[in-house]
Amino acid sequence: MDKTISGDIQYDDLRGWLALAERMGEVKTVRGASWEEDIGLAAEAVLREENGPCVVFDDIPGCPKGFRLLMNVFAGKRRSMTFGFPEHLNKWELSEAYWRAYVKEPRIIPHRIVEDGPVFENIMMGEDIDVLKFPAPKWHEKDGGRYIGTGTYSITRDPEENWLNAGAYRAMVNDRKSVGLRLATGHHGYIHREKYFARGEPMPVVMVLGGDPLDFFYGGMEAPYGVFEIDIVGGLRGRPAKLVRGKVTGLPFPAGAEIVLEGYVTPDNLMTEGPFGEWTGHYAGGKRQTPVIDIRAIYHRNDPILLGVPPMGGGADEMARYRAVLRSATIRQNVANAGVPGVERVWCHEIGGARLLHGVSIKQRYPGHATQAGHIAAQCGASAYAVKYVIVVDEDVDVTNLEHLLWAMLTRSDPKESIQFIEKSWDSQADPRLPHDKRAAGDITHSVAVIDACKPFHWRDKFPPTNVPSAEVLRRAKERFGWLLTGGKPG
Ligand SMILES: Cc1cc2nc3c(=O)[nH]c(=O)nc-3n(C[C@H](O)[C@H](O)[C@H](O)COP(=O)(O)O)c2cc1C
Repeated sequence: MDKTISGDIQYDDLRGWLALAERMGEVKTVRGASWEEDIGLAAEAVLREENGPCVVFDDIPGCPKGFRLLMNVFAGKRRSMTFGFPEHLNKWELSEAYWRAYVKEPRIIPHRIVEDGPVFENIMMGEDIDVLKFPAPKWHEKDGGRYIGTGTYSITRDPEENWLNAGAYRAMVNDRKSVGLRLATGHHGYIHREKYFARGEPMPVVMVLGGDPLDFFYGGMEAPYGVFEIDIVGGLRGRPAKLVRGKVTGLPFPAGAEIVLEGYVTPDNLMTEGPFGEWTGHYAGGKRQTPVIDIRAIYHRNDPILLGVPPMGGGADEMARYRAVLRSATIRQNVANAGVPGVERVWCHEIGGARLLHGVSIKQRYPGHATQAGHIAAQCGASAYAVKYVIVVDEDVDVTNLEHLLWAMLTRSDPKESIQFIEKSWDSQADPRLPHDKRAAGDITHSVAVIDACKPFHWRDKFPPTNVPSAEVLRRAKERFGWLLTGGKPG
């Protein structure tokens, strides 16, 4: 792994990103697909593939000409391009390069307010407001409605402390002038909302639909309390984001955003939201009465592009892939920041939506080191929400490889001795195993298993050696006898 790779992010908004992806030959255009069924079917076909194309849907029946939807940012070689790295990196190298370039010594560059931007090319207010013009798909068969907000984030301001937050919160269309805003307990947008409601005030909000992919990624990541995600992304780019102010609320949003909804959330203006096929692969959250954004203005660029990032469930999908890269690096840094030495690799496995199962490899240095690393990896800022299993292993195990990780767990742990439980840990409404009575009581918590699959520290020197081949043996085996598999001739 080249440790000198530095990031050079060459785009500033979704269109800039699309132009680069087109140049790489990784974009396909589909015309005439319906939002009712076809776009969701295409998502099923494409989003689970590591190297599936980016797809732009155009000429969507029922939508004005030029209104488009883009799906599958994070696959193929464009994954590296999205973070400003050379094309050839595999997923671990990408996460490692990301950690080195952006996470290890993070930079924050505050945004800059500008007067105007392409997002104001079209403005709908009053009776002109019509969110139904945009190609919000019904993504999954049993979804309760059209989800305009999947590749989205919403910006709010803390009414007491004045800081801005950008969080990815899903949005189902309610009617021409409102969409749901579903905020999970404890997320920063939720904390802001509760503060406004406690003061008897509506919460001003802007929802960005079709923004810079990095802003969206960070909207969905656990940034520290009090830090504006757009300013973190400014730090990644090495230049400040240019934001304009909404004409109704004064809240800022990117001048180059494709589509922005602006309005207010109040406690009494509700819709029946859901069900929605969630990242856990179940309709666990069901239907709920959810506050809506009462939309007072819509801003959009000419020929706007809605970004779609629906969870596919039941395995790795686009969302799991990009989150694995970001969250693995962030947990690794969180654990180091908490004072735990010797953490070699962390991988948040795609099979669990990059949330449910984390592998952590350490170079053991003292008794209890594995317990410490496991518990902190389970409860640090980037991890606590929804994690169920953390497996800690020695540094010879490749935690990015699910088979290798499970092999280590199966062979180096003793179930009764090696598993510790954390109780009452922060859960997600999307957890299908959350019992109905706990859900109804608002007790959205569960237990977490921290599995110490390291060689026991005090007799690690007597632990049987492994017969897993070394890299050198593997190389020689392939060189001498690879022909047996390829149908070639003896070498
Ligand atoms: C596509 C997508 C949809 C999400 N939907 C929701 C949601 O509806 N409600 C929610 O509270 N969190 C949702 N999340 C998770 C949050 O965005 C994530 O935990 C984020 O860190 C929360 O923002 P905060 O760090 O500012 O609290 C979603 C994430 C993504 C990527």
